[in-house]
Amino acid sequence: MSVLKFLTVLGLFGVSFGFSGRFWHITDLHWDPTYDLSNNPDQVCASSGNRPASNAGTFGDYVCDSPWNLIESCLSAMKAISPDPDFIVWTGDDTPHVPNEQLGEEAVLGIINNLTYVIKKLFPNTKVYSALGNHDFHPKSQLPAAPHNIYNTTTEMWKGWLHLESQETFRHGGFYTEELLNRTGYRMIVLNTNLYYDQNKVTAGMEDPAGQFTWADNILTEAAKSKEKVYIIGHVPPGFFEKKRSTPWFTAKFNEKYLKLIQKHHAVILGQFFGHHHTDSFRMIYNTDGSPASTIFLTPGVTPWKTTLPGVTDGANNPGIRLFEYDTQTLLVKDMVTYYLNLTFANEAQERWEKEYRLTESFRVPDASPISMHTVLERIANDNCHLQKYYEYNSVSYDLTECNKDCRIDHVCAAREVDFSRYEHCLEKEGAVFTCGGLLPFLSVILSLVLTKYV
Ligand SMILES: *[C@@H]1O[C@H](CO)[C@@H](O)[C@H](O)[C@H]1NC(C)=O
Ligand SMILES: *[C@@H]1O[C@H](CO)[C@@H](O)[C@H](O)[C@H]1NC(C)=O
Ligand SMILES: *[C@@H]1O[C@H](CO)[C@@H](O)[C@H](O)[C@H]1NC(C)=O
Ligand SMILES: *[C@@H]1O[C@H](CO)[C@@H](O)[C@H](O)[C@H]1NC(C)=O
Ligand SMILES: [Zn+2]
Ligand SMILES: [Zn+2]
Repeated sequence: MSVLKFLTVLGLFGVSFGFSGRFWHITDLHWDPTYDLSNNPDQVCASSGNRPASNAGTFGDYVCDSPWNLIESCLSAMKAISPDPDFIVWTGDDTPHVPNEQLGEEAVLGIINNLTYVIKKLFPNTKVYSALGNHDFHPKSQLPAAPHNIYNTTTEMWKGWLHLESQETFRHGGFYTEELLNRTGYRMIVLNTNLYYDQNKVTAGMEDPAGQFTWADNILTEAAKSKEKVYIIGHVPPGFFEKKRSTPWFTAKFNEKYLKLIQKHHAVILGQFFGHHHTDSFRMIYNTDGSPASTIFLTPGVTPWKTTLPGVTDGANNPGIRLFEYDTQTLLVKDMVTYYLNLTFANEAQERWEKEYRLTESFRVPDASPISMHTVLERIANDNCHLQKYYEYNSVSYDLTECNKDCRIDHVCAAREVDFSRYEHCLEKEGAVFTCGGLLPFLSVILSLVLTKYV
């Protein structure tokens, strides 16, 4: 066998040569300090809002935010699975889902401080890129476009993770950028997209809160000139919630601005990593010619908390964490592995974090590039086995019921279209596909013809 052939064979088995790196992405830890098993079922935790925590155990309950045990369990699992990642991405939401009156600025800062402390304790020598979530503020979601004590105090807590210039911009608006791991040619941008959240009344009327869009546009323009490769992280993503039809997070204006920003600079952006959904999903951003431009990876939450959003039934999840594998030279996202704790099993039997799935194995793609993620999306859209698999992963293997026609439309359109009007159009189009059943196979053929352009 020639050397080349041998290498090709190894390559087929997924053995990669050269530049493999790893990083953890954790998000939405939502620690609930009130969690107490000795109380009555409907009083186990404040975050249940009086819903009975009927299966409450050491590691939590599906109607509650995370007990401290779950936080510690999650961090020990990270330490056991991959103790020495290149860096950690932490995209916020540290406090419990309780009314503002039950928290206050001091309590919010105290919770962020506890979580910061335990992450530093377990990963003392690891660089952490940390973004604020809408729950990391008091009153929740009202993050301002100006200096604030909460920005100031979190800057102090995260000083060891932030360069001096990063501290400066973080104090002013909760965002920053620096070279990724101090390597020339590589960049991390940490955004405060809470400024674009439609629940944020403080920034609603502004054109460019804290000048973050202009700032990001400049950074990305410079990045292109210097031939840098960039990752972007943040908490609230643009686009729609896949579990409730026509539910976006950003205001229309900010959603459009964000999309334009990415379309303009997609060539230097190798990945976007967000949280807030608590579910496992992704968002595609396409160029105007329809080619895949960029992917937003949505990592599931650590908290199992069942959402109270009206219209979502049984919206809980198992606690999840994610390890990304990337090419340290190109920043190509090569793969992602999601690990989870089956909360029921953990409470009943034993604490066991296990691999849920590896992207390339489960969806038969070579990597997690935008083209591959486009292929994943088309498989989900056109093949029921892939749809069902995706759907089970979406709740981190909590909801194993069937993803029906409406469910398919909601998930596919949310992943495919970040733009408001294109999303609505997708709903109509995908709805039509199903009402006249014979059309689907025909459309799949057309789609696969289109697809071959990118594979
Ligand atoms: C949180 O931090 C406070 C203040 O440092 C400390 O007293 C408390 O024990 C911490 N809680 C946990 C669960 O670590
Ligand atoms: C932020 O902290 C600095 C000192 O660390 C202080 O001078 C400044 O007034 C603080 N700003 C706010 C808004 O609290
Ligand atoms: C990275 O660069 C910053 C600022 O230039 C410096 O403070 C920091 O110590 C450097 N970190 C490493 C690990 O070299
Ligand atoms: C989680 O554990 C429970 C209890 O052992 C079990 O019934 C359930 O099937 C498990 N879920 C998954 C996805 O394995
Ligand atoms: Zn959250
Ligand atoms: Zn959030």
